[in-house]
Amino acid sequence: MNLKNLCNEVKMLASATGEFLKTEQAALKKKDIELKGTRNYVTYVDKEAESRLVKGLKGLNVLLPEAGFLTEEDTVEFEQKEYTWVIDPLDGTTNYVHGDKPYSVSIALMRKKEVIMGVVYDPVADEMYYATGKGEALLNGTPLKVSSQATLENGYIGFGIPYSLDERGEQVLKNAMRQFRKCSFRIKGSAALEICYVAAGISDTYFHTGLSPWDVAAGAFILHCAGGKCSDFSGGDNYVFGKEIVASNGLIHEEIMRSIIEGN
Ligand code: IPD
Ligand code: CA
Repeated sequence: MNLKNLCNEVKMLASATGEFLKTEQAALKKKDIELKGTRNYVTYVDKEAESRLVKGLKGLNVLLPEAGFLTEEDTVEFEQKEYTWVIDPLDGTTNYVHGDKPYSVSIALMRKKEVIMGVVYDPVADEMYYATGKGEALLNGTPLKVSSQATLENGYIGFGIPYSLDERGEQVLKNAMRQFRKCSFRIKGSAALEICYVAAGISDTYFHTGLSPWDVAAGAFILHCAGGKCSDFSGGDNYVFGKEIVASNGLIHEEIMRSIIEGN
């Protein structure tokens, strides 16, 4: 399998899906917006975008042995296969339903338990982040490089508030609050993109609890390929499926773990 050729095909699908999201956002009506839970929105656009993506990715079977799917909107049943597409057709639905930005299309390819490709597309900014291996992480064709910020002081820090905020998640947010005078915090509203911002050297770090694999898999792989670091809240590798992530430029990682995650 030629991963770079496959990635080019996936980028084209992400781009077409992004165009669809953009067109539909302009036409979105109040009646199109449903709630999955408090402040957790979904629309026909999420579902339709996912169906289109799944159909497009199934069409790539000539480049890849038949793959399974793990998707946010469950338009296709999960099947255990050697290869799995992990998809969020619209990451940033809350921004989207409020006529805001950014939002993104996020697609990762896993082989067994390893992510081997990531594509995250922001259709409003027309920014395509993608990676196929270490040192092969790009934004619209330009190599990505993480920041050199080594301290929390004066850091530029992304984070998010999960739909389901448990005590542990709340404690981490309280720990972050204690650092408000030291550094700048931002919530942009699309986890996949916000992890890519770390890969691009815009943010120095990003942390979040309660995320799902489709929010994280592509962005975290892109960051890893750009020379950054991801971990779960114990410092381990279970950040795609473990519902908690610290993503960073590597240099600031330990201090974030200590000050924000452990609260010391
Ligand atoms: C959400 C976004 C948001 C994050 C949420 C995610 P969705 O994904 O990534 O930034 O804070 O926890 O679930 O629902 O827009 O696909
Ligand atoms: Ca989504």
